[in-house]
Amino acid sequence: MYIRKITDKIDYIGVNDRTTNLFEGLWPLPYGVSYNSFLVKGSEKTALIDTVEVSRAKEFVNCLKSDSVEKIDYLVVNHMEPDHSGGIPILIEAFPEIRIIGNKKTVEMIKGFYHLNDDKLFLEIRDGDVLSLGDISLKFMLTPMVHWPETMMTYCESEKALFSGDAFGSFGALNGGVTDYEMECGRYIVEMYRYYSNIVGKYGKFVLNALQKTLPLEIEFICSTHGPVWHDRIAEVIDITRRLASYQGEDGVTIIFGSMYGNTAEIAELFAIELNKLGIRNIHIHNACKASLSDMISDAFRYKGLIIGSPTYNTEIFPPVAQVVNALTSRDIKNKVVASFGGYSWASAAARKIEEALSADTLLDAGSVAMKQSMNPETEIAVKEIAENFVELLGKI
Ligand code: FEO
Repeated sequence: MYIRKITDKIDYIGVNDRTTNLFEGLWPLPYGVSYNSFLVKGSEKTALIDTVEVSRAKEFVNCLKSDSVEKIDYLVVNHMEPDHSGGIPILIEAFPEIRIIGNKKTVEMIKGFYHLNDDKLFLEIRDGDVLSLGDISLKFMLTPMVHWPETMMTYCESEKALFSGDAFGSFGALNGGVTDYEMECGRYIVEMYRYYSNIVGKYGKFVLNALQKTLPLEIEFICSTHGPVWHDRIAEVIDITRRLASYQGEDGVTIIFGSMYGNTAEIAELFAIELNKLGIRNIHIHNACKASLSDMISDAFRYKGLIIGSPTYNTEIFPPVAQVVNALTSRDIKNKVVASFGGYSWASAAARKIEEALSADTLLDAGSVAMKQSMNPETEIAVKEIAENFVELLGKI
């Protein structure tokens, strides 16, 4: 881990995790993840913004000590998920004079998770409260459900820095630098889609509320809990977040299918070919039997078009596909053009069940096709017609 200067008053003091395989026990971390913390140094007081995951907490505290940080007056807890709060007990031991700043829900969670029950430990704040550190101050903004109910953001006006919690976060450990102008950030941008859709995706309307709150702020640095500190690409990451939170897809189509013996897979291929003939260039096909759920959710959020197909299995959707359908509907996926397809041997169910699952008012249904046993002329005609309808509807959203 390393301490890096962001501004004269703000140091980065986060850790890189290149060991954990699955974030939240679910989401692959092929490039690792960073847990970001920041030290804000005023003329009179010093505040730490968030801690790190518990497995790295000793390293984190040792690093603070090695940087001659003798006293930390405040710990601002923007977010209580344990990847950021796990280091709180060890930090308190190392800096016993510290006071923890959070809102009512934060304090309840700290008591619940870590059994730190001494009320003198806490300084409870409300939305809009300002804390002076001497020559600089911190303003607290409650932004519930980005991504938990206690979530808040902290703004340092003089440094034009927004400590944004999980918002604008990205998977990917930091590779040498911290700010976006110190590193090639293409991969972090791709990982931002995956992070948002996998972790925060259900809470779009709350993310939009939070974005609205940050609009009046002058921001030169976005200090998220994960990934690079954004400076040069602030407009881009705000735009990505706004589009994802409002489910506004980019041009492109995601096709997700499962297949036991290749017959349902043929329909997926045919859809891609027909769409391509109609001018669609950005098509992403995932075989749910082997693709990462994380990547499928990410592409489904990212692009305007979504086609899902499955064989009928025990009169249901094939389990690998059912998992994706459930992940998307539980994230309230909307504003998409959708279509569904299925293969069956003797009783058709999967295509209809996928279509029903994707039947929200905000999803434009281009059609559904069920194929008995293997590819046949009727299915080919139906796929062609649905593809034409699909492209027409893409032009309407
Ligand atoms: Fe990175 Fe919701 O925690």
